[in-house]
Amino acid sequence: MKVRKIIAILAIAALVSCEDDDGPDTSRIIVGGPTDSVDPGGETGGGETTDDPLLYNATEYLKDIVNFPMGNIVSAAKLSNSSQDEFREVLGNEYNSITAENDMKMASMYVGPDDYNWSDGDEIVDYAKANGLRVHGHALVWHSSIPGWLNSFDGTDEEFETLIENYIKETVAHFAEVKDDNGNSIVASWDVVNEIWDGPVLRGTLFREKMGDDYASKLFTWAREADADVKLFYNDYNIAGEPGKRNSIINMVSDFQANNVPIDGIGMQMHLNHNWPTDDLPLSIEQIAGTGLLVHISELDVKANYGDDVTELTQERAEEQEDQYQRAGYYYTELVPEAQQHGITIWGFRDSESWLYDGGNDWPLLYDNEFNTKIAHRGLVAGLNGEAVE
Ligand code: G3I
Repeated sequence: MKVRKIIAILAIAALVSCEDDDGPDTSRIIVGGPTDSVDPGGETGGGETTDDPLLYNATEYLKDIVNFPMGNIVSAAKLSNSSQDEFREVLGNEYNSITAENDMKMASMYVGPDDYNWSDGDEIVDYAKANGLRVHGHALVWHSSIPGWLNSFDGTDEEFETLIENYIKETVAHFAEVKDDNGNSIVASWDVVNEIWDGPVLRGTLFREKMGDDYASKLFTWAREADADVKLFYNDYNIAGEPGKRNSIINMVSDFQANNVPIDGIGMQMHLNHNWPTDDLPLSIEQIAGTGLLVHISELDVKANYGDDVTELTQERAEEQEDQYQRAGYYYTELVPEAQQHGITIWGFRDSESWLYDGGNDWPLLYDNEFNTKIAHRGLVAGLNGEAVE
């Protein structure tokens, strides 16, 4: 049990630029250094209540609680935008790993045959290097991120395959170039391929059609040829929640291992609902860890309105969401052996920036639209501190 009673209530004076006409907003995520007050810990995961029961004052930064990386998503535009100070401040305080939400996908980088635009990815890597962050590369191949020119490519299958081989090798080699002071690449890992399983069966994709059923093993092999050290991941959704899909992924990994196809880790996306999955959540984490590979919770968020049955985030939903974040943090911390913990990445900062936002119909993240810290964050803090949901 890794309960760390961290000792820190932070001075209101140090709150993130929260002075406005109404005075300081004490519900915001804290910045600045800890003072000498004691975090109450316990079932609440620490922190102080606020006037708004959907929010709380956090007293622990996520990255300080655990020994594995805590990540969130970025874009090159946000990292350099002068109106995004608050985002960068929360990023720096809470996270030590970043994933490009879109900038390092094939549709963004592979702009024509053997023609690359890595500029946004480069900006992200430079920012990470300057700020001591790890970059998890996402995602080399994904059926939902194919550039238009490739989708309509009318050459032979052999020519198509060569284009993909070149793209994998050139891109992985390019991003291996920037190193930290210890000589390790800032891009420590890549999602080599994303979502090739459709439930328990292999998805019909352009890559499968042109390269054959074993296309994933080719992608991993090329990535390894380009960089001997970078960690190579398979990434998918509903690995928790769909046992049939999970079995197919575990079988694929066993097959890779038996045939010397290089793979280092599995990304469990973890797009959860407030009430789903339940029993399958710990079981899936245990089974994926059972492969012996690195395990990355790679895209964590928790839908509060999957059934579209509420028009605002109710107290009951917020508390269920808090519990689900706590379970994710708790099971990962407790069930994945330390040597296999690649980290937990949250898929977004403010609710309004989530891919699930859809005009305000869901509130899946840790911060509300004004960057106030939601009780969902309290749940995650508790889980990471080794506190189970009662
Ligand atoms: O940048 C263009 C902009 O120029 C254009 O005007 C606008 C018009 O629609 O689109 C913008 O691009 C959008 C991009 O997000 C940036 O906002 C794309 O249309 C939109 O499809 C894209 O959605 C992303 C989606 O992946 C598809 O790539 C989401 O932001 C991103 O959160 C989501 O992330 C995925 C993971 O990569 C894989 N797992 C599932 C997860 C959620 O779908």
